[in-house]
Amino acid sequence: MERSWDDVDAYLVDLLVPEDDALEAARESAHRTTMPHAAVSPAQGRFLALLAQAAGARRVLEVGTLAGYSTLWLARAVGPGGHVTTLELEECNAAVARENLERAGVGDRVDVVVGPAVASARRLVEDGAEPFDLVFVDADKPSNPQYLRLALALTRPGSLIVVDNVVRAGAVADAASDDPRVVGSRQVLADIATDDRLEATVLQTVGGKGWDGFALVRRVR
Ligand code: DHB
Ligand code: MG
Repeated sequence: MERSWDDVDAYLVDLLVPEDDALEAARESAHRTTMPHAAVSPAQGRFLALLAQAAGARRVLEVGTLAGYSTLWLARAVGPGGHVTTLELEECNAAVARENLERAGVGDRVDVVVGPAVASARRLVEDGAEPFDLVFVDADKPSNPQYLRLALALTRPGSLIVVDNVVRAGAVADAASDDPRVVGSRQVLADIATDDRLEATVLQTVGGKGWDGFALVRRVR
């Protein structure tokens, strides 16, 4: 099965999601980061960009940068007047991301903030950051419940929140799992479900990254 997911992803991406040199270089630079296989796929990158554009997003917060591949999709989507703040634990990954964003000519509309993302996001709250229109959560999965709480402190009614990798090859439906990444994903979904400010769904995905899925959340008040 996974072989055919790969084939279909390759066919669709080749047809609909051509990468220019800057995107290709950003994707290929993932091998220089601490997590070479975690970036979104091209199809997912385009999806994030379409979502940001459909929402008219001008201010985007990303939690988890790595080489800045999704960051680049989002930076292009917000346009020259927009801004992306992206939070990255490791300085060595941030350096790769800055290089990729500079090469693409969007370095001036992106802040790559280095350090534990919970602390960086708290600092944004304390500094009274303007609300973000879209938050993309794609970092360490056990911290997802904390990232949701911080996203709620940094958004406004109408903002969108996307949480990556919540399906985890189906493990999300296993209430007995003691994998901290599954526990974090189940907890953030439970928190979303019980928060009356939020409307949400999860879409399962297959493709070059196997079987996974993302939560799409809209803050209604
Ligand atoms: C991993 C993390 C991700 O965000 C992802 O999309 C795929 C894999 C990982 O932790 O391996
Ligand atoms: Mg991810």
